[in-house]
Amino acid sequence: MPNDAAPTVSAPAPGGAAGKLAAEIKRRRTFAIISHPDAGKTTLTEKLLLFGGAIQLAGQVKAKKDGRNTRSDWMAIEKARGISVVTSVMTFEYEGAVFNLLDTPGHEDFSDHTYRTLTAVDSAIMVIDAAKGIEARTRKLFEVCRLRDIPIITFINKLDRESREPLELLDEIEKVLALDTAPMVWPIGMGRTFRGTYDLQTPRIRRVDEAHEGLPVSGPDDPMFETLLEPDDLAKWREDIDLVRDLCGAFDLKAFRDGTLSPVYFGSALRNFGVRDLLDALISYAPPPLSRKAATRTIEATEPAMTGIIFKIQANMDPNHRDRMAFMRLCSGRLTRGMKVKHVRTDKIMALTAPQFFFAQDRSLAEEAYAGDVVGIPNRGTLRIGDALTEGEDVQFLGIPSFAPEILRRIRLGDAIKAKKLKDALKEMAEEGVVQLFSPIDGMQPIVGVIGALQLDVLGDRLTHEYGLSTGFEPAPCEVMRWIEADDKTKLTRFIEANRSSIAADADGDCVYMAPSVFSLNWVAERNPDITFKDVKAVT
Ligand code: G4P
Repeated sequence: MPNDAAPTVSAPAPGGAAGKLAAEIKRRRTFAIISHPDAGKTTLTEKLLLFGGAIQLAGQVKAKKDGRNTRSDWMAIEKARGISVVTSVMTFEYEGAVFNLLDTPGHEDFSDHTYRTLTAVDSAIMVIDAAKGIEARTRKLFEVCRLRDIPIITFINKLDRESREPLELLDEIEKVLALDTAPMVWPIGMGRTFRGTYDLQTPRIRRVDEAHEGLPVSGPDDPMFETLLEPDDLAKWREDIDLVRDLCGAFDLKAFRDGTLSPVYFGSALRNFGVRDLLDALISYAPPPLSRKAATRTIEATEPAMTGIIFKIQANMDPNHRDRMAFMRLCSGRLTRGMKVKHVRTDKIMALTAPQFFFAQDRSLAEEAYAGDVVGIPNRGTLRIGDALTEGEDVQFLGIPSFAPEILRRIRLGDAIKAKKLKDALKEMAEEGVVQLFSPIDGMQPIVGVIGALQLDVLGDRLTHEYGLSTGFEPAPCEVMRWIEADDKTKLTRFIEANRSSIAADADGDCVYMAPSVFSLNWVAERNPDITFKDVKAVT
């Protein structure tokens, strides 16, 4: 259960329009689920949506995921417009709270979008497979969350299977992620003998086969446990509880909100066990929409004037028109359909005539939305990642970073006469966030970079069908790319001059160093201690 100090969504708010705005914002939780493929994110998403009544039958989110399991299917679906967009944001209500769950594609469609989406949430659930512990993708996604110190709730999943020792898993989280843990429940048994969890906050047992509320017990020594575990197992279990209390700190709301401590829950998404704990934890502990840094000031979510930031663009929503859906996270105030807003980058006014909300299977016109919500804005390419829409103020939000691409390619053009067209197409898609574009300063052919392999497929497909270009990909002369910076600009210039054939400029003109391998990058970095090599570029 939520602890007493935690804020709840039902706390009374001041009256009037400001009061309504504050109350609406306070009940919102905008979050993502981060995990390594197969840890159970889809299953958990589905169970969360079931609680919220956003879907009626288990299996629906799963069916969508399976539908895009192979690349060709994904492309077909992408072309048929819809599913990946509809599942991009899922809004549902539960116990008076409004949840915006932002999808972070994990499998084939892992991309820059995945990382960028994490810049639009206020908290995240980290799902870990109890048999596997922290896996590579979880670690990467966690690092992105850490850039903004996003509070993380941990869910150790698949306890109904043979798992690693819970204490060992906590230790791994602490060591690998440098994140303190506060177990909120403790599993009783695992695999075939998984009986449920013991609530470490208010002594209670929740059995897998019983109602969520559970049964109060006197503590770990309660005779009730004798009916659940074999004597040997029980003795060890009681020892573990003592150890946990000694080793792990108590839950501390501030440390959680600061992103340094994670409350840990154990359960089984498949058996719908422990899922409700997560919703309760989001309501009780996760922050409502946070303030957001802009170039000149910090914008509070509860400010009356609407501001929003575009964090994702989805192209080709409609095959007949080159339209794009821009996803905007509202950073402050209230949006109403039809309102006129300023597109700060171009200084133009635009009317939000058809902002849209997304649900698990549907979308609908958003008549009104509040800070924390995510709306889709159909547009013809005017809006770009990082753009701000406001009621008039010239706001430039900070913090939609670029992430060093993991796959680098050169593009082979079938017809050399179309070089200009290719250049324009790549520029457009770079603005849209589909690819990153790097121009070597020695005048060699540009290099495209992406995070996930499917992005290359999408790029190739769009170059062919949308721009009518016949292209192919070739290996780039480098495998690793890092942005370079130095406090002393002369040193940076000297480094660039000494390494001209390994330097390229990104779309903003910032320099990157290109290396043939991580090994060689490390070698160069060691020999150039005044230069910082960065795999993330923040917007400043
Ligand atoms: P992902 O989105 O993180 O990739 O994972 P997903 O939910 O698709 O789950 C991956 C596999 O793990 C699925 O099995 C799923 O049923 C299973 N799974 C998820 N949560 C649990 C759990 O709590 N306990 C157990 N035992 N299994 C779990 P699959 O065989 O790949 O698919 P399916 O045939 O079951 O649909």
